[in-house]
Amino acid sequence: ELLELALAAALEAGRLAADGQAGIRVLDTKSSPTDVVTAMDRAAEEQIRRRLLGARPGDAWLGEEGGEEAGTSGVRWIVDPIDGTVNYLYGRREWAVSIAAEVDGEIVAGVVAAPALGETFTATRGGGASVNGEPLRAPGAVALDMALVGTGFGYEARRRAHQAAVLATVLPRVRDIRRVGAAALDLCDLARGRINGYYERGTNAWDWGAAALVAAEAGVRVGGLRGAGPGSDLVIAAVPGLFEELHDLLEPLGADTDG
Ligand code: IPD
Ligand code: CA
Ligand code: CA
Ligand code: CA
Repeated sequence: ELLELALAAALEAGRLAADGQAGIRVLDTKSSPTDVVTAMDRAAEEQIRRRLLGARPGDAWLGEEGGEEAGTSGVRWIVDPIDGTVNYLYGRREWAVSIAAEVDGEIVAGVVAAPALGETFTATRGGGASVNGEPLRAPGAVALDMALVGTGFGYEARRRAHQAAVLATVLPRVRDIRRVGAAALDLCDLARGRINGYYERGTNAWDWGAAALVAAEAGVRVGGLRGAGPGSDLVIAAVPGLFEELHDLLEPLGADTDG
């Protein structure tokens, strides 16, 4: 029931955003001049919020643009109305609406809808993951030096300088790097074998909440450092075997709050 509602809301917001992509401009900036917001980021989140909280008024809310709101039902919606805003702004296709439903602190359902790509990813905890209704299973591990690894960069200059230094260590050790520009799509790509691994520092639950469930249900291990869960300090994802190799490469490189 939570999945159905999330799916309907994500598809509806995806249509709104797809229809409004041409001619979109920067409305505002947040943490840095490159951390942009468009009118559609706000309009899409507002539409999703009306739809979800209209149907379930007791639920809590965490949205990238709309902030946090407490609830009474034990269910919390974690929403990124447009993951990949810079792609959206440039008329690119790699952006997605991401909606996760959390029950008592655990994500139980997730939808990542990428209308410009014609791809909708869904997952429920214990119920598997799918893309456009087809079951998803991540392919087996490859060695780190044969792995295509996705990553992303935060918006603040200090954080980026550290991320560039980490990348300088990672790049010579892997097949190649991809920077798609939407963390949710990185994790969904991993679930279907379009990359082998992913890591990023400084993301938030709205970026990866839904997509981490898609990836996990497709057999991908999603975590943080030293047995921790995925978090804003670090998200690492890969199938078991490669996950450990990627973890051990990243673990000594420090957090970007250090740099
Ligand atoms: C960003 C994208 C990007 C990632 C950034 C995120 P936004 O989200 O997911 O790929 O590298 O860390 O902030 O701002 O486009 O929703
Ligand atoms: Ca995002
Ligand atoms: Ca966003
Ligand atoms: Ca943003």
